[in-house]
Amino acid sequence: MAAIEDIGVDLGSSNVLIYARDKGIVLNEPAVLAVDHDTQSVIAIGMEAYKMMGREPSNIEVVRPLRSGAIRDNNMLGLMLNHFVVMVIGKRVFSRPRAVLSISSMTNELERRQLLMGMLEAGARRTQILARPLAAAVGSGLKIMPPIGHMIIDIGGANSHVAAIASGQMMAESTDICGGDAFTEAIVRYVRLKHNLLIGFRTAEDIKCAIGTVRNLGDTDLALPIAGRNLVSGLPKQIDITRNEVTEAMEDSMRAMLEGIRGVIERLPPELANDVFDNGIMLTGGGAQLKGLQEVISEDIKVRCYTAEDPQHSVAAGCGYVLERMEEFGALLGDSRRKK
Ligand SMILES: Nc1ncnc2c1ncn2[C@@H]1O[C@H](COP(=O)(O)OP(=O)(O)O)[C@@H](O)[C@H]1O
Ligand SMILES: [Mg+2]
Repeated sequence: MAAIEDIGVDLGSSNVLIYARDKGIVLNEPAVLAVDHDTQSVIAIGMEAYKMMGREPSNIEVVRPLRSGAIRDNNMLGLMLNHFVVMVIGKRVFSRPRAVLSISSMTNELERRQLLMGMLEAGARRTQILARPLAAAVGSGLKIMPPIGHMIIDIGGANSHVAAIASGQMMAESTDICGGDAFTEAIVRYVRLKHNLLIGFRTAEDIKCAIGTVRNLGDTDLALPIAGRNLVSGLPKQIDITRNEVTEAMEDSMRAMLEGIRGVIERLPPELANDVFDNGIMLTGGGAQLKGLQEVISEDIKVRCYTAEDPQHSVAAGCGYVLERMEEFGALLGDSRRKK
């Protein structure tokens, strides 16, 4: 059996990604499980469960364990992590891989310990945790070890992490800034209020990714047919939603995100602020793919912004790179637990 070498795991609120040494991203699945309450069992994990979201029968619940940016259900999270890690590394007794894990939510010591134990049970030899902005920065190719400041914004589903990093250390950080979910939920609300149409989260997500832009392009307006339930008649109904409407729906979320980013920049010591101004700001995470986002942030903050290549891969890749180049990045790793 070809041995899977060290792995980097991005335990996100929307997606779980795993990077394997010499192979790149080997797993990218929605961070959801489908639970059957009648039998108290998990019936699907990942893409299979995501497909059921919004159309599940009453006895089935589709759970996103990190949806709100905090661990809502430890058991579910553990089950999901175990499932994905085993999928990648197979059942191991010998030649267990090392792993670096980055999690998208705030966790306490106990929760971290449980996750690390879970990794051991799934077959990893040793797992260390890497702070998300550091993982995202390494994965997007920023040179964070020299004493020069860089800023990174990782835009996930539940939340966005903003951090300034210098000498491999986080100098300023904020995690309570909204992520892509807020934009999606704003579309659901907008369509309900303006068109009396109830649409699901997944439909709104599809609209956002297909035609959504946070920057009013003012050109010929693109439209997409969407179907939902008419809140007045209760019957199914289809309407066309235009790109400009989607932009309008997402305005408040965009403003909230900009305020959060500005809050971090304003707290930076002057030298660091100067570095950030010189080097620009790197955007990573799946949410960085929202059209117009890079331009709107650049214009508002008046600092150049870049989007990482494959922004959704940055965190998992960063975790993997750290293991590949321990002499360079070893100092970034904090918490660790080794199997006795
Ligand atoms: N093409 C796209 N356009 C706009 N948003 C996108 C696109 N692809 C993914 N997203 C958004 O990215 C977010 C998920 O990013 P991800 O990094 O996977 O989250 P997390 O790290 O929290 O698991 C979601 O809000 C999703 O809507
Ligand atoms: Mg992410």
